[in-house]
This record gives sequence, structure tokens and C-alpha cells, in this order.
Amino acid sequence: MYRAKVITISDRASSGVYADESGPLASGILRENGFEAGDVLIIPDEEERIYESLTSIADSGSTDVIFTTGGTGFSKRDVTPEATVRACDRMAPGIAEAVRAMSLEKTKNAMLSRAVAGIRGETLIINLPGSKNAVRECLEFVLPVLPHGIGILKGEADG
Ligand code: MTE
Repeated sequence: MYRAKVITISDRASSGVYADESGPLASGILRENGFEAGDVLIIPDEEERIYESLTSIADSGSTDVIFTTGGTGFSKRDVTPEATVRACDRMAPGIAEAVRAMSLEKTKNAMLSRAVAGIRGETLIINLPGSKNAVRECLEFVLPVLPHGIGILKGEADG
């Protein structure tokens, strides 16, 4: 069973202006699909906080895949992709390209997401947009491919 961690990145959810619904939704979908997913981490749209969270979780060896939700758009506070690129040793552009291509079939607004995906050590990091709708659509799309990808990353499966 692969281990997943969900990080909700939102100024308003982290300060309690509203309750985070996207994070728990992502964790629930992950569990339904056979992943282990603990508590959701909720942090503000601060690049340094995001970078530190990604790197400390990845470097602890506790997690095979980190999903972030939120902070991928055009607002000046949206810095999730920048922090993710800094945290990754190698990018995995195919994941973001495929998610965006699928999403464009659902809404033209998908072109406004700057989400990226990449690898730090043996941990895959994937950005998801913030809305519940987007979380469900994007997560259900990428999940079937992940066991093979993570297996190769960890040296447990042949490419
Ligand atoms: N992708 C999918 N699959 N479904 C969606 O509803 N919403 C879009 C886009 N990607 C959406 C989507 C919208 S409206 C925006 S603004 C961007 O993701 C960025 O979202 P974020 O700023 O919450 O990360």
C-alpha cells in the first residue's frame, strides 16, 4: 500500500476563514483507491512554508506521493508551482500535461492552472488545483497510473 500525504495550500483555509473541504476530499479519494493517507496539512500561500513542508515530508521517507491542492492559478499569492519546482530534483511534465489536457475537455479555465509535478528523492509531488471539482477530476485521472510510476521510482517495478 503506497503512502500519500495531502497538503492544502490556502491563506483562507489555513486562517480559518472557511473550512478546508478539498484536502479531506482528496484524502478520501486516495483511501478509496487503496492509498494510505493520514491527516491533511493546511498551510498558507507562502512559498517558503510550502517549500519547507514539501522537502521535510519528502526527506523524512514517510511518503511516496504528496498531493498539493490550491495555489496554482494567477493570483499574486499563488506560488505553489514555484515552491514545487524548487523542491524537486527532476520534473515529471507528462503528469501535468496529461491532467491539463483532460481538464481542458471539462473547462477552458483549466488553462489557468500552472500546476506542475516532479520528484524529490523517492517521493512524487503532484500539484492539483484548489476547487473540489478539480480535485476530484484530476485525482481520479492520475491515480490509476501512480502504482506503476511509484513502483519504478522506488525500484520495485521494471520500467
Ligand atoms: N481543472 C479541472 N479539472 N477542473 C476545474 O474545475 N478549475 C480551473 C483550473 N483547473 C479546474 C481545473 C480554474 S477555475 C483555475 S483558476 C485553475 O485551475 C487554478 O486553480 P487554483 O488557483 O485553485 O489552484
